[in-house]
Amino acid sequence: MERKWWHDKVVYQIYPKSFYDANNDGIGDIPGIIEKLDYLKDLGVDILWLTPCFRSPMKDNGYDVADYREINPMFGTNEDMDRLMKEAKKRGMGIMLDIVANHTSDQHAWFQQALQGKDNPYRDYYIFRDEPKPAIDSVFGGSAWEYEPHSKQYYLHEFAVGQPDLNTANPKVREEMIDIINYWLDKGAVGFRFDVIHLLGKEVDRGIFGYGPRLHEYVRQMADASFGRRDAVTVGEAWGDIQNAVDFTLPSRHELNMVFQFEVTTLSWSQGPMGKFAYHQPDMDAFKSIFAKYQDGLNDRGWNSLFLENHDSGRSVDVFGSTAYRYESATALATALYLQKGTPFIYQGQEIGLTNSPMALEDYDDVEIFGQYKALVEGGVCSKEAFLEGVYKNGRDNARIPLPWNASINGGFNAGATPWLKPHRDYATLNVEAEQGKSRSVLTFYKKLLKLRKGEFKNTFVYGDFALIYSEVKDFFAYQRNGEDGLVYVMVNLSKEAKHIELLAPVKRVLLQNQETDFQGKTSLDFGPYEAVVFTL
Ligand code: NOJ
Repeated sequence: MERKWWHDKVVYQIYPKSFYDANNDGIGDIPGIIEKLDYLKDLGVDILWLTPCFRSPMKDNGYDVADYREINPMFGTNEDMDRLMKEAKKRGMGIMLDIVANHTSDQHAWFQQALQGKDNPYRDYYIFRDEPKPAIDSVFGGSAWEYEPHSKQYYLHEFAVGQPDLNTANPKVREEMIDIINYWLDKGAVGFRFDVIHLLGKEVDRGIFGYGPRLHEYVRQMADASFGRRDAVTVGEAWGDIQNAVDFTLPSRHELNMVFQFEVTTLSWSQGPMGKFAYHQPDMDAFKSIFAKYQDGLNDRGWNSLFLENHDSGRSVDVFGSTAYRYESATALATALYLQKGTPFIYQGQEIGLTNSPMALEDYDDVEIFGQYKALVEGGVCSKEAFLEGVYKNGRDNARIPLPWNASINGGFNAGATPWLKPHRDYATLNVEAEQGKSRSVLTFYKKLLKLRKGEFKNTFVYGDFALIYSEVKDFFAYQRNGEDGLVYVMVNLSKEAKHIELLAPVKRVLLQNQETDFQGKTSLDFGPYEAVVFTL
């Protein structure tokens, strides 16, 4: 496989609204990100992916874009973004932006034009129909069709009412997106994350929403005219299966470099009507086999994104680990995940083992939580209590709580202005500063882990083969990586129960571990709760 500049890079996802509020107005901002660049450099990350920070009425926190070329004034100015790109570059880092090509805000000039009437040239940028058909629900609850009284037609919004779907079958819409991507490439963006990219080829009248017949043609067209010819790194949010992932990332197809797929994420969702709002204890053997399937499936036919958290999920300690074993499970999950083949994506706060922070219903902000409350609780599907239990695990605001930097007011997110979302309930003890400089902390472990990935065994970790081992041991994730720099073993207990492993040869060198156990020279290994070790034989 051809080697690419981004293959050995580590991506850190920033949710600007919640990262750091430099001007103390309650909302995180771009100057705040610039202030924390040295922290990120020291952590060992290379690329910063910012969720949408363009002008937006913020109905869905920026995934409702009103102007793709203007930075949202609540986050700063276009000059601040230029400065961020320059300051990041100075430190050897790059900025990746988030492109929402499936929908805009209803405040976008195109939609405002489209509302002028059926003959307006922008009408066909969107999807208007005389009847709300086919009947489909929006992801945030309720019908995905909104009545527009002026023209007596309905428009499609697969997400919030304020997020009308674009008609990507219209070539002008695709040209607009290409121009926007090129605009940001010219400004210095090194890559892009594409929101719900699998929806771009929808054919509504045939009832096709995801993976429409022309999807790949559209993505290829965009790639050829923008990011593909500029060697940008790309990742598409693509809810689907392994074949879908291959179809997007097979290098010879010249579409995307990576996708986010959610087979692991959805292990914690119910299969019933409550979906993510009924937490389901993930089967950790399914967890490891899904990862192994993607390691194998994309080995020579694409490239994996390695992630467990993002701004749409609960914190991985709560969802896949254990808050009673916060340090152990946060570090175990990181070891299991980030030494696989692929590109690590770390979500802000994950590097300190941040947990969920439950709140009263009225303290939440998320359009999905309120939309689904209406559909599920007011719709009689479940009780408020049951719904909140789900929110406390899988609700999106868990990840959007202002990042606690220290023990001062609001967790040091700012200088005291009321934050847009309540600070973390444990910020006095659980914050970046409390994790810094300690020999045993999640943050210290993350730094060691990223150093290991980039050190003496780098080519093994980046390009080496992956093979699952001891797969019959329950809730135990073990694999070997075999590559140019040697053979490395990774063993992680993903449970609270002790595990015992017999090796064929003694441990030669321990490269990383999250406990003090002496494994050196041993062939019989005993693992405590969430214990993890990386070694050579
Ligand atoms: C996926 C994004 O990650 C999520 O936050 C957003 O609400 C939807 N797409 C709609 O843009």
